[in-house]
Amino acid sequence: MKILVTGGAGYIGSHTCVELLKENYDVVVLDNFSNSCEESLNRVQKITDKKLSFYKADLLDPPSIDHVFEDHKIDAVIHFAGLKAVGESVSIPLKYYHNNLTGTFNLLSAMDKYTVKNLVFSSSATVYGDPASFPITEKFPLSATNPYGRSKLVIEEVLQDLYKSDKDWNIALLRYFNPVGAHESGEIGEDPQGLPNNLMPYISQVAVGLLPRLKVFGKDYNTPDGTGVRDYIHVTDLALGHIQTLPKLLSNPGVVIYNLGTGNGFSVLEMIKGLEKASGQKISYQITDRRPGDIAACFADATKAKKELGWEATKSLDDMCKDTWNWQKKNPQGYRKPAGEQ
Ligand code: NAD
Ligand code: WQD
Repeated sequence: MKILVTGGAGYIGSHTCVELLKENYDVVVLDNFSNSCEESLNRVQKITDKKLSFYKADLLDPPSIDHVFEDHKIDAVIHFAGLKAVGESVSIPLKYYHNNLTGTFNLLSAMDKYTVKNLVFSSSATVYGDPASFPITEKFPLSATNPYGRSKLVIEEVLQDLYKSDKDWNIALLRYFNPVGAHESGEIGEDPQGLPNNLMPYISQVAVGLLPRLKVFGKDYNTPDGTGVRDYIHVTDLALGHIQTLPKLLSNPGVVIYNLGTGNGFSVLEMIKGLEKASGQKISYQITDRRPGDIAACFADATKAKKELGWEATKSLDDMCKDTWNWQKKNPQGYRKPAGEQ
């Protein structure tokens, strides 16, 4: 069975490629490397001792997508490719809408043309906006608070329309909570370009000495310790959620929607403590004002994925922190080689 992975060189994509190869799927990656590099794919092949095919191609360039479908008989597509920085999406919304929406429309047109109608789409818990209660089930009302989130919401709606028009499509909308951690080998992990936007890469760059201190965005939330609470999920658990979704897709379910989270919430201070324990380093931090747009808490009801896919997250907070640290320590500059090394 051959799977096309768009954005397969990225953070979640590369971890999913590892698990796909381990399960003996044939893997074809399409990525423009706008937020990743070829080295992650070299390491995926090193970890698994298996080969994948890859194309440096842009979803904004339809002929290059055709090229991939002409070369390979694809059975299903896992679509990770997209821009994902919330703050940047507020400053340059058109770029986000163009890349995420037009890129997805081009992919869907190619899938239609080559009669490949099985799709797993990377959605996000951000589509729940500012939820009224917790845990969040898939039935909660949806809303967007920024252009990035709106791009996910619009794509979800487009995919529902597509299925209404043609019942041959099978589409899984996977709503991820907060992916963290890295492959246990320390070979692949999250490699933010510039200053990290997200909590865990920021903390681990403080721990390794690249950044002086973390700003904790607010300590006056209505949460047990006053800092924001999120449902952090180990990226390998998340990758395995995609593997468990593929057989479901092939059973012709139409459109299915699953939360991929652990169901547990941890605060910013708990994450700091977790990384201090894993690294043996003191993490310097200061409490600052809330970050505009942040919500107090967010965690999943993930029982639907357990019931229907047989999937649940198994890795603990200690695993998330240990693997984050292992990756950061082994690759202080991410995939970039240290100065002096060729
Ligand atoms: P990432 O940036 O590491 O990976 C995305 C990949 O897509 C990158 O390799 C990038 O080069 C590629 N890409 C972007 N635009 C492209 C285009 N036009 N053509 C070809 N390739 C393109 O991000 P990630 O964290 O691995 O996220 C993967 C997906 O999951 C994204 O769709 C993201 O929105 C979604 N998601 C991520 C999170 C998170 O916190 N990381 C949470 C929820 C949902
Ligand atoms: C987590 C907690 C911050 C950084 C974002 C997107 C969401 C999804 C996942 C894609 C919050 C606090 C953070 C820092 C801090 N992405 N924090 N200091 O905001 O839950 O979700 O990534 O779909 O759409 O919005 O994740 O890691 O940025 O923040 O105190 O330097 O850490 O306030 O409570 P978030 P995050």
